[in-house]
Amino acid sequence: MKILLLGGGGFIGSHLAERLARSGAHEITCLDLSDAKLAALAGSENFFFVRANVCTPSGAATAQELIQNTDVVINLIAPPNPSLYVSKPLEVFRLTLLENFKIVELCSAYGKRLIQFSTSEVYGKTFPEAEAARFVGVAVPFKEDETDFIVGPVNKHRWIYSVSKQVLERAIDAYGLEGRLNYTIVRPFNFIGPRIDYLTTERTGTPRVFSCFMSALLTGSPMKLVNGGLSRRCYTYIDDAVDCLVLILTTPDKCSQQIFNIGNPANEADASDLALRMRHLYDLKYRRPDQPLSKIETVSGEDFYGLGYEDCDRRVPDILKAERLLGWTPKVDLTDALDRTMAYYVEKQ
Ligand code: UGA
Repeated sequence: MKILLLGGGGFIGSHLAERLARSGAHEITCLDLSDAKLAALAGSENFFFVRANVCTPSGAATAQELIQNTDVVINLIAPPNPSLYVSKPLEVFRLTLLENFKIVELCSAYGKRLIQFSTSEVYGKTFPEAEAARFVGVAVPFKEDETDFIVGPVNKHRWIYSVSKQVLERAIDAYGLEGRLNYTIVRPFNFIGPRIDYLTTERTGTPRVFSCFMSALLTGSPMKLVNGGLSRRCYTYIDDAVDCLVLILTTPDKCSQQIFNIGNPANEADASDLALRMRHLYDLKYRRPDQPLSKIETVSGEDFYGLGYEDCDRRVPDILKAERLLGWTPKVDLTDALDRTMAYYVEKQ
């Protein structure tokens, strides 16, 4: 099968491309701005990299030609980083919704199957446990086809990514309803693994939580808990996620016009617990005797991300659909997921 990964040079795309290329059963083309995360595939006979920016006219033309000539499109183009939702909301909206909608239109026009990456962020916020029972539909775990979406007001522009992805999902579904698109939508829940993000020692900016904490541990600087570190996430190891994605790709009949949560509900932790676990592991396995151990301190969301930040307090996926239809269950527990990811960043130093 010819598979096109748009945005395939990122964290998820690079792991998926490696697995698919190594199976030898497919021809893989990745389009992205950079191939830095695809180094392991250099020289593979069934792997091609195309450097292009779909936001430019020439990049869009390249993407169009590639879509025309593939069997299936996996679209990973996204800026999945809360710090960008707050600092560059218009760019986030343009890329997430406007540019990706063009790709949806092309997949429909050329009759190509589309596997579209969305986000766990579409579910928005939950309510404190004591109140959750009164708000039917927004209690965890989040169910793909039942749970309501609750987001904050417009002045909390953190939600621009969530809402852009939601509208994209609805447009894709509308194409499907008209019989003009064979699609599968996936909602990733906090995948972690090697290559997830840059470290703050390599680049300025604010990556996602794992990389913020890892950067702090490597330099002995403080690990910062946003608003006390109470928000909970379910961290999903990338290899488990790729297992599920391969099943979605290779069993199209079971996945047509379906939305799947991909996450590991057993790996739930709040940011404070995550910091403590990472610090403990680092101290136990990787810290040099002369290296200071990071302190853990708290910071306000506004100071850390800027005005317009609001948090998802809790995100737990219901994964019964993937278990039932695909026979998929995540296997890697949180300690193992953290250790494997930390080992990569320590080695890279
Ligand atoms: C992000 C994106 O918004 C999602 O779209 C994406 O799907 C998701 O990551 C993902 O990786 O799947 P979020 O979980 O809020 O969502 O982002 P993280 O940076 O991973 O933050 C997790 C929690 O840690 C948040 O409560 C954040 O405030 C906190 N945090 C972050 C800290 O306490 N300290 C830090 O240094 C960084």
